[in-house]
Amino acid sequence: MTEMFSLAEATMKVILDRRSIREFTDEPVSEEDLQAILEAARQAPSGENAQPWRFVIIKDPDMRQAIATIAGGGSGRRFTAEFVTKKMQARFSSLQDEAKKKAAFEKLTSGQVSAFVGDAPIIIMVCGKKDVWDMPYDTSAAIENMLLMITALGLGACWVIAPCIDVRDEERMQQLLGVPAGYKVVSAISLGYPTRPHRPRPRIPLHELVYSEQWGAPYYEAKQ
Ligand SMILES: Cc1cc2nc3c(=O)[nH]c(=O)nc-3n(C[C@H](O)[C@H](O)[C@H](O)COP(=O)(O)O)c2cc1C
Repeated sequence: MTEMFSLAEATMKVILDRRSIREFTDEPVSEEDLQAILEAARQAPSGENAQPWRFVIIKDPDMRQAIATIAGGGSGRRFTAEFVTKKMQARFSSLQDEAKKKAAFEKLTSGQVSAFVGDAPIIIMVCGKKDVWDMPYDTSAAIENMLLMITALGLGACWVIAPCIDVRDEERMQQLLGVPAGYKVVSAISLGYPTRPHRPRPRIPLHELVYSEQWGAPYYEAKQ
């Protein structure tokens, strides 16, 4: 039986169905789907309509592996800093199982957590023109458009900043992709077919996020 959705319901369904996907099957992504995803990016809003985004499509296994190695290094350093400054321990304070906690810390600090990016059949590398004021926001809008189109097409993706969080990695990525000096490598989007469905990650309720007229005055009442 076909379900009938209004446009608003269909839009919300795509938003809710989007998950960060980190495990992919070997099924290739069609050129038609890839173009629809990139067209969704192209239609994103940008400050002054500057459209500072550029995209490098990576399919070559050696290139994917090279990006995964850089991503692993960046993630490892970031999470090691979180561990050393005890931020990670605070983030995981509700997890009681010590063995699970240790395994999570090891996975995060080793950088292994971001190396999955190389397993995706396609990586879309998002770059942005450095001298455009709103470039970080513009490229983020383009990325979210892509993530939603990816979901609508039944594909999966993860927004991976790991290969671009550190200036040294930024240089490595720049060289690897041959990106000119006026552009910054912003993020990797790993793209492919998900191996399995994923449960949604928790979200902060609206009554904690939205204020009325003044910061701190809840716009919504807490649901009982
Ligand atoms: C700006 C940004 C950077 C991210 N970078 C990474 C990353 O480097 N590695 C990763 O595994 N996930 C990354 N993510 C995915 C988030 O971990 C994920 O969106 C979040 O945990 C919520 O889960 P969900 O996307 O399944 O709803 C990133 C997400 C955003 C928006």
